[in-house]
Amino acid sequence: MAVEWCICEKRHFSELQREAETHGWTTVEQLIEAGLCGTNCQFCVPYVRRMLRTGETSFEVGDGDVEPSDASSTDSKRP
Ligand code: FES
Repeated sequence: MAVEWCICEKRHFSELQREAETHGWTTVEQLIEAGLCGTNCQFCVPYVRRMLRTGETSFEVGDGDVEPSDASSTDSKRP
């Protein structure tokens, strides 16, 4: 099953990508502050972070980016 939405805000990652490009946002925190994603369960946050880095809008479960400070070991982040 692909991860493509912020379920809580009912926004597809492609919409979030467009909003980020329109406003020049480069961090997931900017999208959260705007109330577009990550406002509730935050399941989407690692995926939106990877979307902003790569431009991808569809992910496998577990393929989101963790923040460098969240990574407790090198094997917690996939290549
Ligand atoms: S899925 Fe994005 S905040 Fe819950």
